[in-house]
Amino acid sequence: ARTVPVDLADEASVAALAAATGRFDHLVSTAAMPANGPLAELELADIHRAFAAKVYGPLLLAKHLAPQAATDTPDGASFTFFSGVAAWRPAPARTVMATTNGALAFLVQALAVEIAPVRVNAVSPGIVDTGAWDGLGPDKAAFLRSVADRNPARRTGTVDDLVGAVRFAMTSPFVTGTVLHVDGGGRLA
Ligand SMILES: NC(=O)c1ccc[n+]([C@@H]2O[C@H](COP(=O)([O-])OP(=O)(O)OC[C@H]3O[C@@H](n4cnc5c(N)ncnc54)[C@H](OP(=O)(O)O)[C@@H]3O)[C@@H](O)[C@H]2O)c1
Repeated sequence: ARTVPVDLADEASVAALAAATGRFDHLVSTAAMPANGPLAELELADIHRAFAAKVYGPLLLAKHLAPQAATDTPDGASFTFFSGVAAWRPAPARTVMATTNGALAFLVQALAVEIAPVRVNAVSPGIVDTGAWDGLGPDKAAFLRSVADRNPARRTGTVDDLVGAVRFAMTSPFVTGTVLHVDGGGRLA
């Protein structure tokens, strides 16, 4: 494996990633930089960072990397981005998160048309114990349990649940412009 650091808020950084990558089959971006809190207290710079990770970043990745995608393979080339359940279940102090995730859902539709035949999809997780909730400390377990109690699937998600969805998006040559909701039905309950 080879690593290349990239800042999706910086077009030169994304261009450098493209130069370092060359031809490739599949691109997955899980980037997020949430700007949570009451709107009255949010700084515009934080809102920009949230949009950079989820909206401008995917646009820049498509701009700089789509020309190098290997579309002449059986599965074709694909981009998979990460949206999130907040777009479908808005909550107070989560307006920017809801908006960036919602924008991404429409972005994959538009990109799927613009950069065809590269396929473009999104995975929209519900609450998944990726480590992102570790900041809750001793309250994390109770939080995850309360989410599981509400979800129609009666569980929280695992990283493996998300990996399965990403693999499906990568290897399904007739799937593009779609949001795969891997949220235990959490957007409905
Ligand atoms: N976990 C959940 O319960 C959940 C729920 C709904 C949606 N999602 C979505 O699923 C995805 C993965 O979730 P996660 O829990 O793994 O998120 P996470 O732990 O918050 O990780 C987000 C990653 O994005 C990177 N990032 C932020 N801004 C970036 C930028 N400008 N350029 C490049 N990378 C940037 C961060 O890098 P640094 O560490 O270097 O800052 C971090 O590694 C995210 O898009 C998230 O919104 C997750």
